[in-house]
Amino acid sequence: MISISREEILGFEKRFRGTFVNSLSGVKSANLIATKSAAGNSNLAIFSSVIHLGASPPLLGFIMRPVTVDRHTYQNIKETLSFTVNHISYDFIKQAHGTSARYSKEVSEFDACGFTETHSEFYAPFVKESALRIACKLSEDIEIKSNNTRLITGHIEKVELKEAALLPDGYVDLSVLGTAGISALDGYHKIEKAKRFKYAKPHKKVVDLNGRNESES
Ligand SMILES: Cc1cc2nc3c(=O)[nH]c(=O)nc-3n(C[C@H](O)[C@H](O)[C@H](O)COP(=O)(O)O)c2cc1C
Repeated sequence: MISISREEILGFEKRFRGTFVNSLSGVKSANLIATKSAAGNSNLAIFSSVIHLGASPPLLGFIMRPVTVDRHTYQNIKETLSFTVNHISYDFIKQAHGTSARYSKEVSEFDACGFTETHSEFYAPFVKESALRIACKLSEDIEIKSNNTRLITGHIEKVELKEAALLPDGYVDLSVLGTAGISALDGYHKIEKAKRFKYAKPHKKVVDLNGRNESES
């Protein structure tokens, strides 16, 4: 083991520090957030900070970098209150990574990076290639004062997913979807079938979930 202090981290070269600190939280979710400006320009960008906030009401959130420069996803959400969260499959990680480039507002990353937009009753488009897609309505935009980032929260309005991935107990099997995971800002991981356990109780043995709710494949 090596030990690294806060002072040493602050002394790291900027890019090294960014990659190092970004690695510390482990494997994160891999999503494309799709939006459309009020003027009708579609936008797509990769985000690794999407998190579950609660199931009732169904709520998720993600972290937005400081909005001191043009952030199209942020601007579009503020204008229209609408966004979609689309799982990144391991099959298209390279195209998905490309959406992080700073394209001008008039350029749609759908076209530039090879994705297909689909339209529904929601203002923001979905990503057709994605095996799980969530339509959201802006709930809150919370400033994180320590570093000027923002927690954007969204009400889940609708979910579309590959049917085979939804197990009888409500669990969504990411390995069936082919969803990827992200480490730091450039590491993409394949997700294998999960080992699942029953709800843990104090002083009781942790019990494997039996085959009842698991897909046999
Ligand atoms: C792997 C990866 C994960 C990222 N995650 C986030 C994130 O969680 N929050 C964020 O604000 N930017 C994140 N970014 C950066 C955005 O994708 C990038 O700023 C993009 O240009 C935003 O596009 P927009 O201006 O069209 O919204 C990430 C970039 C990469 C490569």
